[in-house]
Amino acid sequence: MYRCPPLLLPLLLLLFTPLLHAADEGVLQIIETQCKHCHGAEGEASSTVFPRLAHQHKNYIIKQLTDFREKRRIGTMNEVAAKLTDSEIVGLADYFSAKPALSHRVRDMDLAGVGHFIFTRGNPYSEVPACNTCHGENGEGSDTLPRLAGQHKQYISLQLQEFDRRTRNNDNAIMHLIASRLSALEREAVALYASGLR
Ligand code: HEC
Ligand code: HEC
Repeated sequence: MYRCPPLLLPLLLLLFTPLLHAADEGVLQIIETQCKHCHGAEGEASSTVFPRLAHQHKNYIIKQLTDFREKRRIGTMNEVAAKLTDSEIVGLADYFSAKPALSHRVRDMDLAGVGHFIFTRGNPYSEVPACNTCHGENGEGSDTLPRLAGQHKQYISLQLQEFDRRTRNNDNAIMHLIASRLSALEREAVALYASGLR
């Protein structure tokens, strides 16, 4: 069997490190000059209408950035995403998915209680499925399903309204059906509850 001479491996690493570094530098530059202003350098988001990206799943971020680029999802992000290459998208997703998770302190416990019911049991009277069947027991999401835990309440509420109106329709209609069955109270309650999950 061929064995790599002991010196060859460090040498190869030395050769390729500048290349790897260059890619990282490019991505960091994009974050510093663009993403940071709205999503924060740590993915914490500078306003409650901008989604938190901290600890969001890598493949979900890749899908959303690609959808924005190809105009399958319409919004503020179309212009930003239009200029991104596939490898930059992967680098950006790597960066934000690795940032530590954040959460909100919930004060209105009555409203959060309604949200807890919807999140864990849905609304059997209007056929709303429990959110945790897809988004995870604690809103942690999965490889392809977004993390909701610790997301801004206002952003969650806005997305649910967009799914309802079909102004966001890159979800294969799954979220449209669910959002169309939520009352305004249920929507605000579940958004508040999810924002406090960690
Ligand atoms: C001008 C503010 C702004 C800038 C700059 C910006 N974003 Fe966004 N981003 C938004 C808003 C607002 C949304 C929510 C969707 C919408 O309303 O269009 C969003 C949504 C997203 C989403 C989808 C999140 C989700 O949970 O579905 C991702 C991923 C994202 N942005 C990544 C980035 C990256 C990476 C950059 C830098 C290249 C960036 N954004 C730059 C405002 C911005
Ligand atoms: C059958 C599975 C399923 C159920 C049940 C479900 N969702 Fe979703 N949800 C999805 C999928 C899939 C997406 C991602 C769509 C995409 O790729 O753009 C999503 C996306 C979302 C988003 C957008 C997140 C972001 O970062 O932009 C929100 C908010 C959301 N769901 C809230 C809820 C709430 C609240 C409930 C319960 C009332 C719920 N979902 C139940 C499958 C589900």
